[in-house]
Amino acid sequence: MRIPIIAGNWKMHKTVAKAVAFVNQVKDQLPPADQLQTALAAPTLSLVPMVQAAAGSPLKVMAENCYYQDEGAYTGETSPYALYQAGIHHVILGHSERRNYFHEDDELINKKVKAALRNGLCPIVCCDDTMARRIAADDKIHWAVNRILADLKGLSEADICNVTVAYEPSWAIGSGQSADSDQAEEGCYLIRQTINDMYGEEVANNVRILYGGSVTPANARAMMAKSDIDGVLVGTDSLDPRTFLEIVNH
Ligand code: PGA
Repeated sequence: MRIPIIAGNWKMHKTVAKAVAFVNQVKDQLPPADQLQTALAAPTLSLVPMVQAAAGSPLKVMAENCYYQDEGAYTGETSPYALYQAGIHHVILGHSERRNYFHEDDELINKKVKAALRNGLCPIVCCDDTMARRIAADDKIHWAVNRILADLKGLSEADICNVTVAYEPSWAIGSGQSADSDQAEEGCYLIRQTINDMYGEEVANNVRILYGGSVTPANARAMMAKSDIDGVLVGTDSLDPRTFLEIVNH
């Protein structure tokens, strides 16, 4: 059974003090993790204090990125090994902002996915489909599916079971224009079919696939009701504890 997830992605928001205050505010109001998992991805500086604040609660704290080497002379990068040792067991990789502003390509993301898994981290691998591609291509999410093929290249069946995929159309991210629940389901369904082609039905039925892009308390329930959508990745509306909890309690 795939346990659904509500994951916030704070991006480059909040001071350490505000991040910890948020955790303290929500941590006792979350459902048990065997029913619905809850997670927050935060800037690196806040991760360890958040893990400490969340101890004993169902909330998982996630990194928003990491490098593909475990250690070494890579100024400014975050080690997946150090993340795991610090109690951070999940990482978002391949977010469209990383791809667009920091020029991360599928080859780099594939290396990062492998490094995360090698160090015990469970990656949430994001793939988008741009509006231009969506309009141009007959096969509407062809783009996203190709990305997933490239981002997950070379992973074993055991590896893939620790991966979560997020279908995040870049035109829906931060725009207030969410995909409708049918479009979101179509994207998640096609990604699951792609995983089915790569690894077979049993694996495809176990991998969780999230939708992300302008998720709000108003549309979360419709998204979560779809059979191939196992959760949501929430940017803007995860920044306020009230809207985050409303989405959790959709
Ligand atoms: P948004 O961001 O909810 O603000 O659209 C989603 C994301 O970037 O993961």
